[in-house]
Amino acid sequence: MYVNVAQAVNKLKNGEVVAIPTETVYGLAADASNENALLQIYSIKQRPANNPLIVHIADISHVGKWAAEFPPLARKLAEAFWPGPLTLVLPANPHVSNIVRAGEPTVALRVPSHPMALQILNSSGLGLAAPSANKYTQLSPTTAAHVRAGLGDEVAVLDGGACEIGIESTIISVLGDDWRLLRHGMINEGEIVALTGKPALVSQVNLPKAPGQHLLHYSPHTPLQLFCDRTQLIEACNTLSRQDLTCAALLIGEGNVPSCKVIQLSHQPEQLAEQLYSALHALDELKLDHLLVELPPDIPAWAAINDRLSRAGHAK
Ligand code: TXA
Ligand code: MG
Repeated sequence: MYVNVAQAVNKLKNGEVVAIPTETVYGLAADASNENALLQIYSIKQRPANNPLIVHIADISHVGKWAAEFPPLARKLAEAFWPGPLTLVLPANPHVSNIVRAGEPTVALRVPSHPMALQILNSSGLGLAAPSANKYTQLSPTTAAHVRAGLGDEVAVLDGGACEIGIESTIISVLGDDWRLLRHGMINEGEIVALTGKPALVSQVNLPKAPGQHLLHYSPHTPLQLFCDRTQLIEACNTLSRQDLTCAALLIGEGNVPSCKVIQLSHQPEQLAEQLYSALHALDELKLDHLLVELPPDIPAWAAINDRLSRAGHAK
């Protein structure tokens, strides 16, 4: 069922779950201080209880409600990138529900930039726990229609249009003076290095990993094969059609694959990110036997896209 902003705020204050737009992907939101509401998120998503949730806040002044420490390095990142697609993992205040933290000593915080998300945060006064509004391991939604298709009509959805960024936020954990990249996103590692003046810690035992970062995530239902080389993709398509199997292809930039449905994506990482999940949702709906996807170059500008595609394409 679709709801407007005022209805969304009422439901959230009432301990109900509402799917809301953010600039990255749609989130399945609930009052982060209401444990019954939080449990509904896990149950609707069929998400394991050991995978913590991001708490969305209205602005930087709310960090102290959730985090026990806000080191200068984290503050610098927040000031530079909030509102926006950056999540900071910080030591949690002890009162933060264990259900949000999934037992971790830390809490993940983000100020989203989508105007409707900010409106809801400001008028409800709540911190909103919101994972991506999809079932566990499936593709994240970038439109209200994707949410309905994935979660069904019973879940309340606020339609805020198509998400501008299109893939999930960059996650950085900060402990004292050190930071670590937990999930690639459109704010890339180079930007964080430039701002903090120091490289990421790579193998630091004290800093937590993002527990949700296992392989086979972000997956369409249709088996997905990845190709570094377009000629091999075309050959794979030919082989499939000789076996009477159907397929479609996602290409980067112009091009065609004979007798195969093709979606051409942008050459630019930012534009491609915006298009990616919609294209995968659209091809998935065709219920073909295989999806063939051309990979972008293995260089830092494409790190987030390569990360999502490699997880989506992991062998089932
Ligand atoms: O862009 C986004 O981040 C979207 C929108 C809705 O904000 N949200 C999102 O949430 O992608 P989700 O739950 O699908 O992914 C959050 C990731 C998970 O991999 C989770 O394990 C990690 O963040 N995470 C959350 N809290 C954490 C914590 N305290 N420590 C480490 N990782 C954490
Ligand atoms: Mg997710």
